[in-house]
Amino acid sequence: MDAALRSLLQQMPKAELHMHIEGSLEPELIFALAERNRVKLNYPSVEALRRAYAFTDLQSFLDIYYAGASVLLAEQDFYDMTWAYLQRAHADHVLHTEMFFDPQTHTERGVPFATVINGIHRALQDAHDQWGMSGALIMCFLRHLSEEEAFATLEQAMPHRDKFIGVGLDSSERGHPPEKFARVFARCKELGLHLVAHAGEEGPPEYIRTALDLLKVERIDHGVRCLEDEALTQRLARDKVPLTVCPLSNIKLRVFDKTADHNLLKLLDAGLTVTVNSDDPAYFGGYVNDNFVQMFDALPLEKSHAYRLARNSFAASFLDGATKQKYLEQVDAFFDR
Ligand code: HPA
Ligand code: ZN
Repeated sequence: MDAALRSLLQQMPKAELHMHIEGSLEPELIFALAERNRVKLNYPSVEALRRAYAFTDLQSFLDIYYAGASVLLAEQDFYDMTWAYLQRAHADHVLHTEMFFDPQTHTERGVPFATVINGIHRALQDAHDQWGMSGALIMCFLRHLSEEEAFATLEQAMPHRDKFIGVGLDSSERGHPPEKFARVFARCKELGLHLVAHAGEEGPPEYIRTALDLLKVERIDHGVRCLEDEALTQRLARDKVPLTVCPLSNIKLRVFDKTADHNLLKLLDAGLTVTVNSDDPAYFGGYVNDNFVQMFDALPLEKSHAYRLARNSFAASFLDGATKQKYLEQVDAFFDR
């Protein structure tokens, strides 16, 4: 890729719509927080922990991701983690971010819901005050837990209803189909929350269909396996259902063997509203710009694709119409230079 395209990818205005804040916890910060909170880690050093990041599938990653999150105890820990991500996102010209958080990973360990959300939310406010960056939170239910536990989490979240805009579904996909959470998603819809779900990452295309039909989600997180089902692909294109694709995550979790095998260009060619995101940047080898650069290096993607992806990132966001329009105009102005 030439230097001009690389610099364009890095500097173009973009939104990030699929990033788990607990997945932005870098090994150095994990060790610093472990020391601050006197939490014992099963790894002797930062290097040893980083060496353990050799995943074979989604579950092998999740095991280490939940272990890493065990060092988060105080509100300031959640603030520090979020602030570190926001600084990196700002450097990558992310103007708007919709971040996932996993409250159950913390409440299960006795950390109060308020501690989690207040720390994350305060960092988002500071990013807005300092750089004008906009941000919002999407609370994810862990799909390996029960629907009853998801309902209990929703209950705990209600006093903080003004601090998050939607709910999602993450963790182990296989064996935990969307319909397991149909009633809690119906309740969230009644509450006026935005709805998204991870589907078609490791799970079959059928999970994408049931996420749409039974959970009524507005976006699909990952969704890369949709291409195995032509009718589904056509439906996603026709209805402009956004897919929040995370290329480096897909490589690290062996959904595709190598970057050149990724189906990002095929998804774009199928007319889908694709966005590029980092998922769990501390674990998968890069933040959002690394995802763009590595895909454009590996696939025959050009400036016109960059323009589409930058526009899609804002178009697929849950921003209000006027703010969305303002960002889209910023993208247009950037590409018209
Ligand atoms: N998939 C499912 N659950 C997750 C992921 C993911 O990529 N990252 C964090 N939780
Ligand atoms: Zn994810």
